[in-house]
Amino acid sequence: MLDNRYKTNLLYKDEETLDDLIKKLDHQHPIQRKLQFFLDIRGILKTNFIKGSYVEYGCFKGETIFACEKILEETMVMDNYYGIDLFSNEELNLSSSDLESNQFDSKHPFLFESFDEIKEAFKNKNKINFIKGDLNDKNTFKQLKINEINVALIDCNFLSSLESSIIHALDNICDFGFLFIDDYFTNLKKSGLVVDTILRREIKNRNYKLVDYKIYAPFAKSFMILKK
Ligand SMILES: C[S@@+](CC[C@H](N)C(=O)[O-])C[C@H]1O[C@@H](n2cnc3c(N)ncnc32)[C@H](O)[C@@H]1O
Repeated sequence: MLDNRYKTNLLYKDEETLDDLIKKLDHQHPIQRKLQFFLDIRGILKTNFIKGSYVEYGCFKGETIFACEKILEETMVMDNYYGIDLFSNEELNLSSSDLESNQFDSKHPFLFESFDEIKEAFKNKNKINFIKGDLNDKNTFKQLKINEINVALIDCNFLSSLESSIIHALDNICDFGFLFIDDYFTNLKKSGLVVDTILRREIKNRNYKLVDYKIYAPFAKSFMILKK
């Protein structure tokens, strides 16, 4: 006797249910993993009063920083929110190892017409600040008015940018602060996970402890940093 699968051309009786489940489990939005991270950590920040500023290294058009403020502001531990980017369509000055190790284009189409336009769009968000500059230039960071960083989100694709951002974040993170690295599993080489190697070297240099927090598919990982 023919069962349903021959009538419907479905290989498994419950293939439609599987399709529905796959759709339901799949990401609904390109920045979903970052939102999930903020939702995951907000209780820890609030309960333990982990106070400081949020810094996003590579904030593109500001969508994630906008959502971050929505989610984390209720914790009452956030000083300010900073987004750093070149905010331009100019080509980045990339090293040969950047070019060799990266599958991304050196250009990111900047959706606002100018830096002033993004600032204008966020003018009612008092705590959100944008800094225009190269992450590989130490002067860029001088514009940050922070006491300590409690949440650092590193999302800048290129190895050189990732390295200087990791160094700046660790130099300024508070005890029990969170670090999210979006490009953790992107630079895979014969020598291993390049970003992981950089991070562990910098943690060791400072005698900090790196506590694994969560992995966010497809290639992000987050940590808590213990300074003592
Ligand atoms: C993947 S996008 C960031 C996405 C953003 N965090 C979000 O969630 O919407 C990467 C950004 O990093 C910036 N970036 C990469 N290297 C940089 C550098 N050296 N200096 C400044 N910005 C840099 C690019 O301009 C680009 O906008």
